[in-house]
Amino acid sequence: MKILVRAPSNIALVKYMGKKTVPVGAQTNLPENPSLSLTLSSLCTFLELRISAARAGEESAFRLLPEMPGDSRGEVPKLTPLGGEKFLKHLRRCEALLPSILDRNGIPAFSHFNGDLEVRSSNTFPQSAGIASSASSFAALTLAAGTALVKEPIDFSKRWKEDSKLRGDFARVSREGSGSSCRSFHGPFVAWEGANVSEIPSNLPPLSDLVIIVSSGEKKVGSTEAHSRVKTSPSWPGRVARASERFEGVRSAIIHGNWESVIQLAGVDSRDMHELFSSAEPPFSYFEKGTESVLDFLKREHRDARVAVTLDAGPNIHLIVPQSEEQYWKRVISDRFPEFPCLIDREGQGAEVLKILP
Ligand code: PMV
Repeated sequence: MKILVRAPSNIALVKYMGKKTVPVGAQTNLPENPSLSLTLSSLCTFLELRISAARAGEESAFRLLPEMPGDSRGEVPKLTPLGGEKFLKHLRRCEALLPSILDRNGIPAFSHFNGDLEVRSSNTFPQSAGIASSASSFAALTLAAGTALVKEPIDFSKRWKEDSKLRGDFARVSREGSGSSCRSFHGPFVAWEGANVSEIPSNLPPLSDLVIIVSSGEKKVGSTEAHSRVKTSPSWPGRVARASERFEGVRSAIIHGNWESVIQLAGVDSRDMHELFSSAEPPFSYFEKGTESVLDFLKREHRDARVAVTLDAGPNIHLIVPQSEEQYWKRVISDRFPEFPCLIDREGQGAEVLKILP
């Protein structure tokens, strides 16, 4: 059997930063603070899972194949040996956790994978885009693994579209592989609180995300290291309270269609996170010269613009704007900074099964 799935990346408006310290063997990637994101659409991972015939009495073997050709736009992120190991380890986690979740949801499932698995994937964004590929790739892997475990994959893929609770259950498993991946199962607005992930009803106009790529260099500090080092900052005490308050503010603003308030709170939260980085011990920063230039330009010439400006753990800038203004903003940025590529994506609905072939 061959399964093809797609899962998008997401961009946080209130950032997940700082993991709870838990005993060894307990659930992983539980966040210190609630976070909230916008699910993207075409900036995504395509993932293919092939299952070969079962060998009686033997545990299935997993293999990572070279990237899928065709769907990627340019350079395809390569998993480092460590990343590859983490990815395959996540398949075992899915095999251990998903059968009982499927069972509890009344979906007939096997207790183990029925054969050896081969995985290959590709992202639609170049590695240099600085868009976290772990969110989309782990979400895609979790959904593909679940589809491989069910007895009636076609029925499952239909149920998947309609059943937000089922997607929330899968999101919890995905979170254990990559924290922010748990927000790529719903859309367009997703809340992540503790172990729970849910969709937020919105009265905002449809949104687009413009990603201004100011640098394509390797990240100096990975997000795992960032999650732990922020706790050494003198600004860490109070971060959970500050982020929690903004989380409530942004959630309410989304529900009530108050775009101004989303802009204001998302900007403050992004600055708060980057201030934790620069005041940590030892301090670090993702900002590059280009980051400062774009932020200065926006502050100087577009102070009152109705755009949300946010940065993840990287130097590139996300401008979130109403879809009706996306071409205007693309022109503003390209005219002033022709040297920086600008990707455009729109809000989306979360991970989906594309094809199941016998
Ligand atoms: O999922 P991780 O461990 O890569 O953490 C992602 C953290 C940020 O992207 C900086 C913020 C977020 O909420 O996505």
